[in-house]
Amino acid sequence: MTAPTRDDPSYDLDDVGTNPSKNPSFNDLIASRLSRRHLFGLGVGTAGTALLQACGGGGGGGFLPIVPPPPAPAPPPPAPPAPLKLNFNPVAKSLADVVTVPAGYTASVLFRLGDPIAAGVAAYKNDGTDDPATYDRRAGDHHDGMTFFGMNGSNKWDAANATRGLLVMNHEAITPLFLHPTGPTALNPVYSSATSASLIDGQRNVPGEVLREFYLHGVSVIEVNKTGNTWSYKQDSSFNRRIHTLTEMAFSGPAAKTDYLKTKFSTDGSKTRGTLNNCANGTTPWGTYLTCEENWASYFRRIVATDTPNRSTKEKASFARYGISGTGRELWATVTPDTADNQYGRWNTEVLGASATADYRNGHNTYGWVVEIDPFNPSSTPKKRTALGRFGHEGACLGPVVVGKPLVWYMGDDSRNEYIYKFVSTKNWDAADIGGGMAAGDKYMDDGRLYVARFDADGTGKWLELKLGVNGITSSNTNYAFADAADVVINARLAADSAGATKMDRPEWTAVNPKNGDVYVTLTNTNASSRPIGQTNGANPRFYNDIKDGKTNQTGNPNGHIVRFADDNADPAALSFKWDVYLFGARSTAAADVNVSQLSADNDFSSPDGMWFSHAAPGLLWLQTDDGAYTDVTNCMLLAALPGKLGDGGAKVITNTDGTTTLTQNTFVGKAPGTDGLRRFLVGPKDCELTGIAESGDGRALFVNIQHPGETTARTVISDPTQYGSHWPQGGNARPRSATLVITKDDGGLIGL
Ligand code: FEO
Ligand code: CA
Ligand code: CA
Repeated sequence: MTAPTRDDPSYDLDDVGTNPSKNPSFNDLIASRLSRRHLFGLGVGTAGTALLQACGGGGGGGFLPIVPPPPAPAPPPPAPPAPLKLNFNPVAKSLADVVTVPAGYTASVLFRLGDPIAAGVAAYKNDGTDDPATYDRRAGDHHDGMTFFGMNGSNKWDAANATRGLLVMNHEAITPLFLHPTGPTALNPVYSSATSASLIDGQRNVPGEVLREFYLHGVSVIEVNKTGNTWSYKQDSSFNRRIHTLTEMAFSGPAAKTDYLKTKFSTDGSKTRGTLNNCANGTTPWGTYLTCEENWASYFRRIVATDTPNRSTKEKASFARYGISGTGRELWATVTPDTADNQYGRWNTEVLGASATADYRNGHNTYGWVVEIDPFNPSSTPKKRTALGRFGHEGACLGPVVVGKPLVWYMGDDSRNEYIYKFVSTKNWDAADIGGGMAAGDKYMDDGRLYVARFDADGTGKWLELKLGVNGITSSNTNYAFADAADVVINARLAADSAGATKMDRPEWTAVNPKNGDVYVTLTNTNASSRPIGQTNGANPRFYNDIKDGKTNQTGNPNGHIVRFADDNADPAALSFKWDVYLFGARSTAAADVNVSQLSADNDFSSPDGMWFSHAAPGLLWLQTDDGAYTDVTNCMLLAALPGKLGDGGAKVITNTDGTTTLTQNTFVGKAPGTDGLRRFLVGPKDCELTGIAESGDGRALFVNIQHPGETTARTVISDPTQYGSHWPQGGNARPRSATLVITKDDGGLIGL
C-alpha cells in the first residue's frame, strides 16, 4: 500500500486502515425515516445512585464502590447539588510553542522524557548521549493515557488522597530524532522519502540506540507528592517502576497457553516480553491499571513476498486484517548479530525455524491486548488479559460499578473503519475484592463475554457477541474458519466482521458519565478513501471538505466527532442500546452542515481523542485533541465540557457534498453546547498532541500529558537544532520532550469550575 506522507493532510504515523469487510455502509439507509419518540422515550439514563465514577484517569483509580444503602431509617434526601458551571475565560487558539491556560491557573512541568526515576541516575542531558543502560530508570517518551492512584501512609490505595499517589502513565511511541546524537542511524523507508522498501540486515546496527528505544516504550509508575502547593515526583521511591518492551508478561484468559502464542521465548504460550504502543488506559474497581496496546502491528517485520509461501490461508487472512507487513517501523529486527535471547530477532514474525517454538512466527499474536498492572506491587508480573480481545486497543473504560452486577469495560479499536467493543465479566462485583491485585483480575477479566457494536439507523444499536458458534463465527465461515475460543479473541476483528459490526471513523477513547452512565466514544477523524460520500451512516454521518491553509482539500470527516450511547435499562450487560452524536469537531467558520454543533471561536476544535470524566466534579468532561487538520490555525488543545445526556438534542438531516454529489444523511445529534457547555481550557506547544489526563483525589490538581512536541521532524535527520519543530518545555534550541503537566487553580479550587 502507499506509504503515508507528511503532505497527506490526514497524516498519522499510526493510522492505516486494514478493514476490507463489507460491514454496513448503510447506503440503503440514507433515506430512512427516524422516530425520536421511539428512541428516547424509554427512560434512558435512570441509573441514578447506582452509577459512579468510572474509567481511566484518576482520583485514585477511577471509582468509588457502591454498596447497598442501609435498610432503615431512611436518611433525609440530600439537597440537590448545584449545577456545575464552567468558570474560566476560554483560551484563544494558538500556534505558539508554549502551554497556555486561563488566567488564574498555573501549569507546571512535572515529569519529562528522560527524567530519572531511581536513586543515582543522572539528570537527563537531552542531547542524545545519555547512557542507554539507564533508560530503564528514566521517563519514557510520548506520554499518553494516565491514572492517579491516591496512596495513604500505609502505602495502600486511597482513592480520595489529595497529596500523595502513584501516577501511572503510558509511553506510546518515540520521536527518534530527539533520542540519539544525530537522530536514528537508519530511516525506515516507510517514513522516509524512499520509494522502495529496501531492507538489509544490519541496517539499524547501533544496539545502544535500539536499547534506548526498547526502554522508552511502555509504562511509568512514579510516586508523586504535594508539598505546600507544589507537586513533584519522588526520584527514589520504591514504587517507581518502568515497564517496557523487555519486561516479562504473563498471558491469561482464553488464548493463554495455546498454540497461537507459542514462541521460542515461551514454548508453552504462557508468556511474552514487553508491551508496546501503549495508548489510552483504564482502571479496575480493585485498584489496578490497564494499559492498552494500539499500533503494535507496525513494529513487526514481515516481508510478505518471502513469508507468504510458508503461511496457511488463515494466517494470511489474519496478517492482512491486522496489517502486519513490511520492515517494522523502527527496524529493530535488522540489528545484527542478534542476542542469545533474540532481543532483535523477536520482532521478525516470519517463519524461519523448524517450528513455532524455534522462531517468532507467532510474535505478533503476543501483542494487541489489554494489559493489567498492579502499581502497588512493584514486583508483580503484568498480565495480558486475552478475554478482552486482540485489536488496536485504544483504551478500556470501566463502566458503572455496582455490587452484585457484572463489570463492564468499553473499548475502541483505533484504525479507520474499525469497531467499538465491550467486555462484560461473568462474575458479579464483590466490593471485598478491592485491593485484590492481580488475583482479582483473574476473577473478573479472564472469564466473560466480548461484544462488538452495531449502530442502526433508527438510533438504536445491538451488542453482537463474539463467541464460537454464534454470529457466523464458526469453522464453516468462508472468510476465516474459526477453530476455538482462542482463535476468536486473537482474531477479534475477523469475528467482528462476521458479526456485522458497524465501521466507525477511528474509535479512540471511551468515557462513562458518572452522573447517568452514558458512554462516550471519540471518533477522531477519517478520510474520503475510507468513508466515501456514499458510505456515511447515522453514527458516522458527515462527509465534507475542510480546506486547510486556504488551499489544501481535506475530504471525508477530517475533524471527527463524538458518539454517545446508553445501554438499555441502564444495564451494562444489556444487548441493546440507544445512541446519538454528542459533538462534532469543526472550524467555527465552517458551513452549518459541517459545524453541526455550532462551535464558536471559544470552543472550536478538530480530531477529538483523549476524553475523561472528572471524579471530583461529576459531569465535567475533559476533551483532548490529536489533530493534523486544523493545525493551520491552532495547536492541539484541552477543552472542558458539561455534556447533557443522550437524547438532549434531536433528529437531524445533514447534507453532505463532495462538490459533485450531494446526499442527505439522517442522524441524531446532541444539543449544541454553546460556551456554557464547552470551552477551550488549554492550548499546547507546537506539533504536540494532548493526551492522558488524571486528577488528584480532591480534584484540585489536574495532570495532563503533552505528547510529541515537534513531531513534524520526527523521522528526518536534522543537525541544526534551530530547525526542530518545537523546543518545549526547555526553550532555547533544546530538543523537545514529551512531558506531564500539573495544573492547579491559583485559589486552590476545582479545575475549570
Ligand atoms: Fe494512540 Fe489512537 O491514539
Ligand atoms: Ca489516542
Ligand atoms: Ca489519535
